This record gives sequence, structure tokens and C-alpha cells, in this order.
Amino acid sequence: MNNFPLPRLDKDSKLYEILLNYCRLKSGEKWEDPEGLHSVGCIDCTDEDQIKNFIGKKKFTLAVHDPPYNLIAFKKMNVDEFILWCSKWIKNTEKILTKNSSLYVWLGADYKKHFQPFAEFIIMIKGTGFKSQNMITMRNQRGYGTQKNWMSVRQELLFYSKGEPVFNSANVYTDIPKILRGYYKEVNGKITENFERSHSDKIRAGNVWVDIQQVFHLKEENVNGCFAQKPLQAIERIIKVSSAIDDRVVDFFSHSGTTLLAAERTGRKCSTIDIDPVFCEISIRRLEHFRETGLLGWQNSNPFAKEILNDKKLIELLRKEYNMSYKLN
Ligand SMILES: C[S@@+](CC[C@H](N)C(=O)[O-])C[C@H]1O[C@@H](n2cnc3c(N)ncnc32)[C@H](O)[C@@H]1O
Repeated sequence: MNNFPLPRLDKDSKLYEILLNYCRLKSGEKWEDPEGLHSVGCIDCTDEDQIKNFIGKKKFTLAVHDPPYNLIAFKKMNVDEFILWCSKWIKNTEKILTKNSSLYVWLGADYKKHFQPFAEFIIMIKGTGFKSQNMITMRNQRGYGTQKNWMSVRQELLFYSKGEPVFNSANVYTDIPKILRGYYKEVNGKITENFERSHSDKIRAGNVWVDIQQVFHLKEENVNGCFAQKPLQAIERIIKVSSAIDDRVVDFFSHSGTTLLAAERTGRKCSTIDIDPVFCEISIRRLEHFRETGLLGWQNSNPFAKEILNDKKLIELLRKEYNMSYKLN
């Protein structure tokens, strides 16, 4: 189905309330994958008891978290409150990771406010059992630049560890061809240059990722209604490098279910949560849709397209209030 968009679901409560009727999880509930691999919980990641209940005895080798830093950008919390909130889910994460494990956190920085909450977050995590490992920058253009400052095209990804986790970067290459020659080295008495010695004609992923396209409406992986989707390729890269096949991966901020889908595609087991039943439903549907069709998202259709089609009032609401035009085919 084409041209069946959905507005951002954080923008309007009327549409959100209707979609809630189509969600299988209520707060505190969980979905278990009939194939026995994954689970999705409608849970608050700061609530220790809810997390315990959801996770049970499972332990994870990898956590990939993408918290909503708009909580601070939109003044829903001040920076101290935000960091206190973060410290709770970091503590919950530490408890459910194995002794050799990795933690990745996507975090923004407000350039006009002394880069908050980035700096405060780094200081907070210093007081935990995590060791800092690296800081990755992913190129991600969001809109057009201002004429008065450098264009914002970066997203930061913090990488921490516990113990000695797996790190399989050797076979993880980008699609970027190697172009620089000239690193000569003597091997078995013969002078070789870097191209002769390398295993691939592509460069390996370092800590600056410029080869991953952001998600936008023309990409198959696009999930209409979601507004903070991370590219599948980025999460798959993290999973391949920092976990092994059959390992367990956890994500406390599921949203469009990117980590869930990435785990499915890379042979890992995922437990993921979202506080919002609508995003839990979208995550489950994204996995189901992939299993049924092999597609990564809905491109310019949406996860609730079937229900909307059968609900004339809903189509009317979307047409009138959101100026959405639907081409039904
Ligand atoms: C930035 S989005 C994550 C995007 C995700 N990585 C993706 O690719 O789709 C943050 C999500 O965190 C959820 N969230 C906010 N507060 C939460 C909490 N206390 N516990 C669990 N989830 C929460 C929001 O509902 C939102 O869906």
C-alpha cells in the first residue's frame, strides 16, 4: 500500500487515543515472541521492580539505549532531573548485563547550553561500574543548516563496557572504498603496500560513521508515526561487533523497534521495552511485518494502515486535521 502516511504520534492526542485501541499491551504487560526469541514490555525503564519482573533471570551481553533527550530540550525536565532519571535506568542496565558486556548510549548535546546533557551524563556514568571505551560520531543530517553556525550533522554514541566483552570489528566493513595508498611495510622480506595486505577493498568502520543514511520517508525502513528512528544499519553494526550469535541484547527505548528487528536479522535475542503502548505495538508489528514480508518498515505506509482503512472516521480525522491525502489502492 502506497501513500498512507501517519503524522508524528507525539504531536496530537486525538489520533494517539484512537490508536491505543489497537495496541495489545497495557502498562506493565509484556509480549512474548511465539518463536521464543524476543520479548517486548510496556514498562518504565526507571522502575526497578517492573524491570525485574520483565527480565526475570535473563542476562544480556549488550545494551543499546536511545533515550529521549528532548525531555530536556523541550523543558520537560531540567538537566539535573534528566541526569537523575538517566542514573536510574543506567543502574537497572548494570544489574542485567553479564560480567563481560557492552553498553551503547545515543545522546545529544545542546550547543547553546554548554552541551548539556552530554557533559553531565558522562560525569554521572563515571560513578558507575562502567568503563568508558569510545565515542562514535554518526553523520545524520536533520534539516538544513543555519547561516550563523555549523550545520548540525552529528549524533553521538557513547560506548562503555563491563569486564572484557566481545568485540568483533575485524569483519565489519563499511561500503566506502579504500582510496589512500602508500602505507608500506616489509612482509617476509618483501616491501608491500597497504592494498596488497588488506582483506577488503572497503574501509573498516572506525569511530566516525559517515556511511549510514538517516531514515527518511523514501527509505523502506521508514516507520511513519515514529519521529526518532535510528538507522537499522547502525544498530546492526553495533550488534555484530559487540555480541555473538544467540546472545541477548536489551534496549530500554524501543520506539520503532529498530533494535528488535536488528537482533532478529543478526541472530540475537532481544528484550526491549517502551513506556508507551503505541510504540510497543509498533515494535511488535515491525517484527511481524518483517517475518511476513521481509520488509524493514512501511516506507510511506504505516503500521496501523489496515485498521485505518477500515475506519472511515479515522480517515476523515487524518484528512481534516492533518491534511493527509490517501491514495487507496
Ligand atoms: C528516541 S526514542 C528511541 C528510538 C529508537 N532507537 C528507534 O530506533 O526507533 C525514545 C523512546 O523512549 C520511550 N521512553 C521514554 N521514557 C521512557 C521510559 N521511562 N521507559 C521506557 N521507555 C521510555 C519513548 O516512548 C520513545 O519511544
